[in-house]
Amino acid sequence: MPDAKRIFLTGGTGFLGSHLAQALLEKGNRVIVLARKSTSQTARQRVVEVLGRVSSGQLGKTVAERLEVLEGDVSLPLLGLDPSAYDYIHRHVEEVWHSAASLSFLEDDRQEIFRMNVDGTRQVLALASGTGPRRLHHISTAYVAGSRTGIVREDELDVGQTFRNPYEASKCEAEKLLRAAHESGAVRATIYRPSIVIGNSVSGKATHFHGVYAFIRGLWAVTRRLRQGNPGSDFVDLSLRIRGSETSTLNFVPIDFVVSAIMELAGVPVSGVARTFHLTNPVPTPNWLWLGVVCRQLRVRGIRLAEEKDFEDEPMTRMEALFHRQMTFYSPYLSTEPVFDRSAIEDALSTGAIRCPYVTQEFAAKMTGWYIDLLNGAREGQTAAGEQA
Ligand SMILES: NC(=O)c1ccc[n+]([C@@H]2O[C@H](COP(=O)([O-])OP(=O)(O)OC[C@H]3O[C@@H](n4cnc5c(N)ncnc54)[C@H](OP(=O)(O)O)[C@@H]3O)[C@@H](O)[C@H]2O)c1
Repeated sequence: MPDAKRIFLTGGTGFLGSHLAQALLEKGNRVIVLARKSTSQTARQRVVEVLGRVSSGQLGKTVAERLEVLEGDVSLPLLGLDPSAYDYIHRHVEEVWHSAASLSFLEDDRQEIFRMNVDGTRQVLALASGTGPRRLHHISTAYVAGSRTGIVREDELDVGQTFRNPYEASKCEAEKLLRAAHESGAVRATIYRPSIVIGNSVSGKATHFHGVYAFIRGLWAVTRRLRQGNPGSDFVDLSLRIRGSETSTLNFVPIDFVVSAIMELAGVPVSGVARTFHLTNPVPTPNWLWLGVVCRQLRVRGIRLAEEKDFEDEPMTRMEALFHRQMTFYSPYLSTEPVFDRSAIEDALSTGAIRCPYVTQEFAAKMTGWYIDLLNGAREGQTAAGEQA
């Protein structure tokens, strides 16, 4: 294949990284994936297994031949690789794709999150720079915007915003490193900022379950306990106020849109400033819409979003307090959301061939229905509850 490249990719066992690895392999590239082993599987076994799930079957022979997996860790010097492997990649790889990150939002994990996301990016930058300009594709997040409200432009980064959790802060720091390296000429970087990545727009299928999925899992667990006390009931009643705003929105982007947009944007020439793209939905989904769909699918009545004043007038019940303690990591996202400007991405994808589908009632039902079936054990060969937020 004439355009085939040698690509080094981190995060290949993750949701986005595995889909990107699959897309890059399908295009004929040779992909070297950096991955960690687990207690029961080698790094290669883990990557092959997740790529099998992404492609809904076995990894094809020709694709598998173009895949190499190296065991390593982005937070370690030389990425935990032996010096000769590191040197080989440093000299021969044409592009570096950095998708590995810690997606924990927990304050208790702050140090670890920064070690993975900031020190890890520093290590990846060291690999990508040095012997000539190298292309670096970096997966960031739209939520480097932190607590900002109003319009957030793609070329903006640190405007003095505060952050809702150490994850957002660490991803902002990582982008700063990237921009500085790009400006110094050490790398030619493109930065992709997805919003909330959800399952496939056709099937609803996802392979990892962070953020909003963890929130849905929390609601599923509460209603399941309730249902156990009311066997045979269809709809169950659960008076539960969740801190948030009915009219605020969540910005969902299906994984297939994110991957095809990144693959297209990766070919856009890089100029003086690092290009940054918001991989966001032009029409975010109101909370009342998707939460209503989730409640209908869980067959539960009485769950609603309530603003702070509501809790001042009537304090939380014990059950509400317990739910909030477990879901604190997600509460801020249910109250406000900025408007993500999309000028750069719209300009770059101006043919209109790649469009982000709107998350309508129908789409939300497909996505949450797929996940709730998985939680209920209706989808065999998959695990859902083991994933952390
Ligand atoms: N999912 C979303 O909704 C979303 C939205 C916006 C932006 N993003 C960004 O997209 C990127 C990918 O996220 P994702 O959804 O794919 O997350 P994910 O499913 O949690 O995957 C994270 C990946 O990073 C790897 N990783 C973490 N620490 C590592 C380390 N020290 N060394 C090597 N690998 C390490 C993980 O490996 P293990 O399997 O070994 O843990 C996994 O492959 C991240 O940069 C994230 O910030 C994600």
